Amino acid sequence: MSVPHAVTPDKIMQLGLGFWGSKTFLSAIELGVFTALSDGPLDAQALQDRLQLHPRSTRDFLDALVALGMLQRDGTTYSNTPETAQFLVRGKPGYLGGMLEMANQRLYPFWGSLTEALHTGLPQNEMKTGGQGLFETIYGDPERLRLFLSAMTGLSMGAAMAIAGKFPWKEYQSVVDVGGAQGGLLVQLCLAHQHLKGINFDLPVVEPIFEEYVAMNELSDRLKFVPGSFFETEIPSGDVITMGHILHDWSLDEKRMLLDKAYRALPDGGALIIFEALIDDERRQNAFGLLMSLNMLIETPGGFDYTGADCSGWMREAGFRETRVEHLIGPDSMVVAIK
Ligand SMILES: C[S@@+](CC[C@H](N)C(=O)[O-])C[C@H]1O[C@@H](n2cnc3c(N)ncnc32)[C@H](O)[C@@H]1O
Repeated sequence: MSVPHAVTPDKIMQLGLGFWGSKTFLSAIELGVFTALSDGPLDAQALQDRLQLHPRSTRDFLDALVALGMLQRDGTTYSNTPETAQFLVRGKPGYLGGMLEMANQRLYPFWGSLTEALHTGLPQNEMKTGGQGLFETIYGDPERLRLFLSAMTGLSMGAAMAIAGKFPWKEYQSVVDVGGAQGGLLVQLCLAHQHLKGINFDLPVVEPIFEEYVAMNELSDRLKFVPGSFFETEIPSGDVITMGHILHDWSLDEKRMLLDKAYRALPDGGALIIFEALIDDERRQNAFGLLMSLNMLIETPGGFDYTGADCSGWMREAGFRETRVEHLIGPDSMVVAIK
């Protein structure tokens, strides 16, 4: 006889008050807790002084971060975990805090208006009060731009390495990354495949940050930047075209326009690789992909995330003859289409 399953409210309460943990962690990044610990462990008093915490908050704040798995404590001294040491120390390559600092400053308050977005279907970011769109807002401030682009490198690194390993690159000579940001994917591809040459086609303001990152990786002879907007010009030609975390920013018509442009830019036999947090075809499991789509509701006039089957269908309608979906890492998968 099976033991009856006790019904408890644990899951409900954990999810309903999940923002407590999230906001504690985002405030820790804002205050620079993990950066303060980059040179070694500190005790509560030293952290309180350095971060200008009120004595009433210090222990609960730091110990909550320990309980949440974002700090370690040995006796009375606190230190970074391997993850926070690698990804949340400001100034380190691959720093993810830039993305989370923006989440704290912008998304946290904007998500407070989710119910309104659910009713109206309208963005709840700066656009709501007559401000500019997502990229114009981020790119209007050079420091934000730099943080965003390097955070994209960190965020997409796992997927980039998986794409370098899983796709048959030896059959192709050149790759064009559309909206390639700092060049995270192109650098991984070129490090793994000596014969490849690549182009990053992105907005002009991205160029110096791309050039700097590529030079740091000693790949300036194989990786070039073509400035432009995919709304205004054709996509440069190459044997393979990649688009990472691009299509979900845009409406269905805009997605189709980008797929059409990719098709025109490829030779017969060329490949298009789309990758992002694809929603599972049953729309039941990839909570991150589904929540990302709600984030697109908050951030854009028409953007939404989609399943591998959705994307394959649009690709075939654009003219591609073969498509396949492959999981990459975490919530990210890729859809490969052959012209
Ligand atoms: C979310 S980021 C994705 C970065 C990168 N592909 C990745 O997966 O990590 C979107 C990229 O699209 C670029 N982008 C936005 N609008 C664009 C446009 N109109 N033309 C070309 N690139 C654009 C941005 O500059 C940014 O690099």
